[in-house]
Amino acid sequence: MPDNKAQNCIINLEGNTYEFPVIIGSEGEKAIDISKLRDTTGYVTLDIGYKNTGATKSNITFLDGELGILRHRGYSIEDLAEKANFLEVAYLLLKGELPNKDQFEDFDESIRHHTLVNEDLQNIFKTFPTGSHPMGQLIAMISSLSAYYPKALDPNRSAESKNRTVLRLLAKMPTICAMIYKKRMGHPVVYPNNNLDYVSNFLNMTFKHVSDSDYQPDPVVVDAMNKLLILHADHEQNCSASTVRLVGSSQANLYATIAAGVAALWGPLHGGANQEVLEMLESIKADGGNVQKWVDKAKDKNDPFRLMGFGHRVYKNFDPRAKIIKKTCDDVLNRLGINDPVLEIAKKLEEAALTDPYFVERKLYPNVDFYSGIIYRAIGFPTEMFTALFALGRLPGWIAQWQEMSTENQPIGRPRQIYTGQTPRSFIPRGER
Ligand code: CMC
Repeated sequence: MPDNKAQNCIINLEGNTYEFPVIIGSEGEKAIDISKLRDTTGYVTLDIGYKNTGATKSNITFLDGELGILRHRGYSIEDLAEKANFLEVAYLLLKGELPNKDQFEDFDESIRHHTLVNEDLQNIFKTFPTGSHPMGQLIAMISSLSAYYPKALDPNRSAESKNRTVLRLLAKMPTICAMIYKKRMGHPVVYPNNNLDYVSNFLNMTFKHVSDSDYQPDPVVVDAMNKLLILHADHEQNCSASTVRLVGSSQANLYATIAAGVAALWGPLHGGANQEVLEMLESIKADGGNVQKWVDKAKDKNDPFRLMGFGHRVYKNFDPRAKIIKKTCDDVLNRLGINDPVLEIAKKLEEAALTDPYFVERKLYPNVDFYSGIIYRAIGFPTEMFTALFALGRLPGWIAQWQEMSTENQPIGRPRQIYTGQTPRSFIPRGER
């Protein structure tokens, strides 16, 4: 039995001693439980960017940034990416266990049942100027689903009704992403074909032309897409997952909550990095391919440029997802016979950065976004769609995080602050200022 005394944290403040419990997670992660800190001491903690703050306990995903470990519900990301399909991983994240054959068939069938979106939703596209960013459209489309399913607004509805919202979101997300692509291309929408599996259906809605009855998604592409979605499926308390938990904690409906997660993902420091990486590689190519020049730019503190696709808040050794993606990238390009010149630039950049003391000292390694864009492009997606594809993969993770938070009845998220503004002063009427 652990010695409880040894597990307490002693804090001395203004001559008084306080004890706080230490919490140890199932993988040995340690935290000081300061939930009673303000009540007992009058102090709060200050941790801008939450670099040291555990916002929740969670049993969904384990991540060890030093060792480069990522596991969902105990299963390694390497095993899941190699042996499972995306829907199995979605089921695992949501329900805690891998589905058996019957459970999988049920889940798959329920999702196929909800793939269509209300026809009126297409009118929303008419309001977007041509070329508007897919992520802005995705946020609007997801949040507008709440208008078609108003029961989802009731936080006290039955578990069955909540589950229906989850299935609807999982089912309609590929349809919406494919519609965004089609509208962007000026092509008619291709409706879901529920005889196809989740990923094939998405590729079919995206790349099939209405006039082309022969389109068959390439199995190599289906496999790569499954892997990419799995690699993005969850990543514990990152910016978008924390946003989902925070918005969901106010009991906002799940459509609005997920739309908020998509908004958080859009930023170039988070999921938006995959688009930025490809654009950066293109700029390096257009600039003559002088990789060292760009590495130097990234190191220059007077230059805001960063090497996109490098660095991670948690991974300080390597990003296990990047390892898998790099291999998938080689496989896909070889098997599709594509010779993408930016792949060469990417490899040179990785080599230059990994041997440069600036990157070595700061432990900046390629992250998941570094190679994913090259695969998306080989498959045929335009650069601006990349972050929407990240969102498609991350959806089950966001829902699992929301579900855990709401079933545990966690309180509304409401951080404190240290006020550093003006102290009280007298109001001076406008004419006298
Ligand atoms: N290029 C050049 N320098 C960098 C980079 C980079 N990509 N990333 C971090 N640094 C430097 C930074 O300037 C700082 O240097 P110093 O200590 O001299 O001030 C040091 O490394 C630590 O950086 P930080 O910004 O304090 O680290 P963070 O943990 O707050 O930020 C990050 C993590 C991912 C936002 C950052 O590494 C970054 O901006 N990377 C590029 C964007 C990117 O690829 N984002 C995708 C992340 S993975 C997908 C996801 O899960 O969202």
